[in-house]
Amino acid sequence: MHISELVPENDENGSPRAFFAGTTGSGKTTLMMKMIFWILENENPLILIFDTDGMWDYQDYSSMKWKRGVPVRITKMSQIVDKHTGFFIYCCDYPATRDPMVGMLMEWAFNHGYITLIVDEVGDFGNGITVIDILGNIIKKGRKKRIRVFIGYQRSQGIPVIVVTESSYFFIFELRSEKDRERLADRVHPDFFTKMEDYDFMAKTPYMRDPVVIRGGKKRYGDRKPGAIGVRSDSNDK
Ligand SMILES: Nc1ncnc2c1ncn2[C@@H]1O[C@H](COP(=O)(O)OP(=O)(O)O)[C@@H](O)[C@H]1O
Ligand SMILES: [Mg+2]
Repeated sequence: MHISELVPENDENGSPRAFFAGTTGSGKTTLMMKMIFWILENENPLILIFDTDGMWDYQDYSSMKWKRGVPVRITKMSQIVDKHTGFFIYCCDYPATRDPMVGMLMEWAFNHGYITLIVDEVGDFGNGITVIDILGNIIKKGRKKRIRVFIGYQRSQGIPVIVVTESSYFFIFELRSEKDRERLADRVHPDFFTKMEDYDFMAKTPYMRDPVVIRGGKKRYGDRKPGAIGVRSDSNDK
């Protein structure tokens, strides 16, 4: 499948949210990078990447065909304020929750609109704290402001629940824990449980490079009846 078929694009709901789930090393960041390269070659975008582990920073961008050259590693707000196009990487302090630039950049992005945000390893941004509040706002209210959001995390548990409920694209790599798979089954797609063998990540090679791609989520399947999730329906029978 060509990358162009996978890149989440704007639709009638506005800008999409996409969730990339899978254990460390399963290929989340690599797929996001391929998508970003495609976006850079085919759109005139504004992209901001929150990098928590250096994966984006250390990448060799020399082969990138983007006409504006390599990404800008930003260290202060003035480098991105007023920009309407560009490819920016912000390397977060550890822990990202204590890095004031993260919240400032997210707030800036929320007010600006027309931007693609990558929040890789969202678990590093903590739980129930300010950054997550701002990110939650972006996810919930940023669609019409044309804020496209790609979220990556190793697990589907332990992330803000709105990441799962608001996403309409899911790129699911290897998920070892049944609880992680159940979390997605609940939210993502009625077929997730009934066709469990298709999602038997353990049966695949330890490094599953081809994600299970699901285009759907609440927006598309929101009208499904309770109990429509296959084996789960037993518990709904009176
Ligand atoms: N489709 C792929 N084909 C071959 N190697 C891949 C593929 N996707 C990822 N890799 C390699 O696997 C390693 C881990 O990938 P990465 O995207 O960093 O995983 P994650 O972000 O899920 O931890 C990297 O060295 C990367 O080059
Ligand atoms: Mg990664």
